[in-house]
Amino acid sequence: MSDVTLGGRYLAPALDAALRELEARESRAFVTDLCYGTLRHERLLNSALAPRLSAPEKLPERVRLALLAGAYELLVRGTPAHAAVHAWVEVVKRGPSRQRGLAKLVNAVLRRLRPEDLPSPPGEGSLPPWLFERFVAALGPAAAERAAAGMLRPEPLWLSASDPEPATERLRAEAVEVHPGPVSGSLRVRSPKPLRDLEAYRTGLVQPQNPSSLAVVHACGEVAGLRVLDLCGGNGVKAAALAAAGAHVTSVERDAGKLRAAARNAERLGVEFERLQWDLTTAPPLDPAPVVLLDAPCSGTGTLRTHPEIARRLTPAAVARLAELQAQLLRTAAACLAPGGRLVYAVCALTREEGPDNVAALLAREPLAREHTLVARRERFLLPEDGLDGFYVATIERASVG
Ligand SMILES: C[S@@+](CC[C@H](N)C(=O)[O-])C[C@H]1O[C@@H](n2cnc3c(N)ncnc32)[C@H](O)[C@@H]1O
Repeated sequence: MSDVTLGGRYLAPALDAALRELEARESRAFVTDLCYGTLRHERLLNSALAPRLSAPEKLPERVRLALLAGAYELLVRGTPAHAAVHAWVEVVKRGPSRQRGLAKLVNAVLRRLRPEDLPSPPGEGSLPPWLFERFVAALGPAAAERAAAGMLRPEPLWLSASDPEPATERLRAEAVEVHPGPVSGSLRVRSPKPLRDLEAYRTGLVQPQNPSSLAVVHACGEVAGLRVLDLCGGNGVKAAALAAAGAHVTSVERDAGKLRAAARNAERLGVEFERLQWDLTTAPPLDPAPVVLLDAPCSGTGTLRTHPEIARRLTPAAVARLAELQAQLLRTAAACLAPGGRLVYAVCALTREEGPDNVAALLAREPLAREHTLVARRERFLLPEDGLDGFYVATIERASVG
């Protein structure tokens, strides 16, 4: 974990590497929850620990993390005190000899912790104050609290399937528990095996995808037989869903590695779409299309459940820089839209700057001619509750000619 807290690494790859050393599936699940849960709750756990520590900032990182993880086990997972305290005291005792003396402190602090030491309600206290303020500005105070608290809970395994019936059947034949998700085509599953070992995955019946991401695809409407530009296509997850729905998709992405991953994934899923490597700060060499999707790079503040490290590193200045880039990409996307066409703008972010402010600025630009007029048809924030990612999604239409 110190690779993440001190080394600046992302949690998912750091954990992936660490988990390779663990045999049992239960141990991997436990360590995964411990790492994600501790980082998601870090600020709340710090608040609970602070009154019992005279100089927490002077503690070695290993000891600080042992206290945090112990507090997470005790206060959030509800592990009995005798087990949790003993385990983390042992971790400190097995550390560098000059830190061993701190085992007594860890023992004393953890033993005195009580569930009521955690701030309540939890959402606000889980985020840096400036970020919670952005959530409030975007969503209002009650929804901001629900959003922040919602992202403290673990994510279930979400899959999407262009044909849910055979996918469900195949998954069940592999002893996977399957329930329909909240968005059409999404499935909530519990698998006894890692996803990559499932036949249903290998044969392209299913794709890991959060239902909110699938909802962005649905916001493109009926696309069968239409040309669709998937701008900032990344690994092509949305492009694949659009292609499966019968669209003729061109996925445009700056990063060559992501385009290669998109090609591999399309092959697994048995769908086809064109790919173009292009920096979308300038217009791509493509004819205007009736449907354009821009899934822009963003702060990721709607995905803190799966990327809790974002909250430790993000700054207001970074949000402002991203909003500027998004505004530029939105102008490119609008220029790619044919008269009468539909532009869907999405970010997995819960700030006004990256969402409604960007769309308002685009619409406020003087149209060159009537057929260039843009109208917002629908805009909304999807809240990160019940295992969903938080998104902002806007549908904008261009007036038709004549
Ligand atoms: C939110 S991700 C897209 C996820 C993708 N749509 C999906 O569903 O898998 C944003 C993507 O924008 C790409 N990107 C960032 N700046 C770009 C630019 N100037 N031109 C083109 N792509 C860019 C990033 O490489 C990243 O893959």
